[in-house]
Amino acid sequence: MCGIVGYVGPKPMKGVLLSGLRRLEYRGYDSAGIAVEQDDKLLLVKVTGKIHELEQRLAGVDMEGSAGIAHTRWATHGEPNDANAHPHTGCNDRIALVHNGIIENYQALRTLLLERGHHFSTKTDTEVLAHLIEEYLEKDEECPLDDAVRLALQEVDGTFGVVVIDHNNPGQLVVARRGSPIVLGVGENENFVGSDSAAFAEHTRDIIYLNDDEIATITASDYTVKTLQDEVCNPIVEEITWELDRIEKGGFDHFMLKEIHEQPQTVEDAMRGRVHPDLCEVKLGGLEEVHDILVSAERIIFTACGTSWHACLVARRLIEDFVRIPVEVEYASEFRYSRPVFNKGTVLFAVSQSGETADTLAALRLAKDEGIPVLGVVNSVGSTIARETDAGVYLHAGPEIGVASTKAFTSQVTVLSQIALLMGRLNGRLSKKRCEGILHEIVRLPGKIRSILDDTGSISEIAEVFGRVNNALYLGRGYNFPVALEGALKLKEISYIHAEGYPAAEMKHGPIALIDDDMPVVVLAPGDQIYPKVISNIEEIRARKGRILVIATEGNETIRDLADWVIFVPKTLDCFYPLLTVIPLQLLSYYVAVARGCDVDQPRNLAKSVTVE
Ligand code: AGP
Repeated sequence: MCGIVGYVGPKPMKGVLLSGLRRLEYRGYDSAGIAVEQDDKLLLVKVTGKIHELEQRLAGVDMEGSAGIAHTRWATHGEPNDANAHPHTGCNDRIALVHNGIIENYQALRTLLLERGHHFSTKTDTEVLAHLIEEYLEKDEECPLDDAVRLALQEVDGTFGVVVIDHNNPGQLVVARRGSPIVLGVGENENFVGSDSAAFAEHTRDIIYLNDDEIATITASDYTVKTLQDEVCNPIVEEITWELDRIEKGGFDHFMLKEIHEQPQTVEDAMRGRVHPDLCEVKLGGLEEVHDILVSAERIIFTACGTSWHACLVARRLIEDFVRIPVEVEYASEFRYSRPVFNKGTVLFAVSQSGETADTLAALRLAKDEGIPVLGVVNSVGSTIARETDAGVYLHAGPEIGVASTKAFTSQVTVLSQIALLMGRLNGRLSKKRCEGILHEIVRLPGKIRSILDDTGSISEIAEVFGRVNNALYLGRGYNFPVALEGALKLKEISYIHAEGYPAAEMKHGPIALIDDDMPVVVLAPGDQIYPKVISNIEEIRARKGRILVIATEGNETIRDLADWVIFVPKTLDCFYPLLTVIPLQLLSYYVAVARGCDVDQPRNLAKSVTVE
């Protein structure tokens, strides 16, 4: 998704802005640009392509100025090209702005502005906002920049995270947000703006999360925050909770590989201070206030997208097993435009790594509007979803930079397991004895994940074979069906190989027609309760000369006779196999993507956080 950086202060402007953009590169983009106000004029450079191309264009260009903005764009309206890249200006090149979000009524505004004599140089919705603001400034020379921005935004329908500079008002940034995240970094005689705190974390750890319909005016020495209705706010300065090294590669070739290898630690962090096996206790501070809601819950709806949606499928089995209440898992993009029936005792969980996914946010707002309790399972602290839910649990996985989600999935499943255990104990349907056994196993999982990661040799060899195919089928049953979906998504999104996840037994109802020598099949066959049935499915594939990679439990030597390749994972409880069987699939997709020369951390067309619908 688009990245925003703003700076006002004494440091070299170009350096601060470009390093901030680099910290946001992982979000995915197709063009980049920078603008500063300097000596009563605007200096603006923008390119189609990557930040290093912008840096080349800026080599030798003196762009210091006292306030500056920069942007990486993931095209929504208007194709990726230099003109459509941000920043954008009005007719008189007086102001420049960068914008995340979508202006829904931009066509109507554009028509009005054309009638009033404005001329446009791009096809973007964003440019309309620049002309509107400039018009307010031209109408009344005394009009402060923040008033012009506020008045212009009152004409806008849609979402925005926007930062504006004006060479007639040097040394200040005006920032506003509705539905698209914007945070302020508070420094010593300098201040920062970012669509994500990673943009300025190397400079300051003091942060203000701007809320929807708030506008801030920022100088190097001060900041004020108001509502778009011009009421003064008293923002709270919080502190960034993660260390900067968490967003460095730490010696790995890619963020994705680093994050795969972080999982023993992040799964442990997801339990830290929360799981007490000897006391048979799960303590989730973020849900303490809503135990009454959890006890009386009669139905759970999970809503999420992508990998998070897969984690919810695992959660469904966990809750139906431990809590014995019905669970539905809804794609947020479908749910938000449906007419869901909420009955008494319904509780909705929104699950999101970024906490900014537009569809998931809209789905939770739909439920909130109906008076349904909405709980969150989120990684990004202070994100919009985290702040709009009634209560929730953070993953504590640290920033996930790779576009392909890995550690977030295992942390989500770990947290969701704890929620299911807590709810099962609260409503009495999970016995103390069974809960104790489960808790003593969950604390062993980080070590079991580590043992898989300690022996990845065979996976890179298998990846050489998978790297040459165009299609693949992933099969799983029970707790591992969601893992089949997740493994297929990983392969699709970073290696661009078409891969499909399917319930193993369902293969007989169609997909078995696809099986041939060019269609390798990945089968999740850990030694769980459904294992004998999965073996039957494997036999069906073999009978059709399909090539098979099986993920099996250590010690199962018979499986070698049924598969072309086998990757073993340690034994665990049926309900925890997703946390182990997913690891080889993450690694397989990583090595296949590397073998195919793909951009592992920033796959084509993808964004890390989809903040537009
Ligand atoms: C997963 O690898 C993808 N990056 C994508 O499906 C992602 O899981 C989805 O966009 C949801 O993101 P969220 O968890 O931040 O809401």
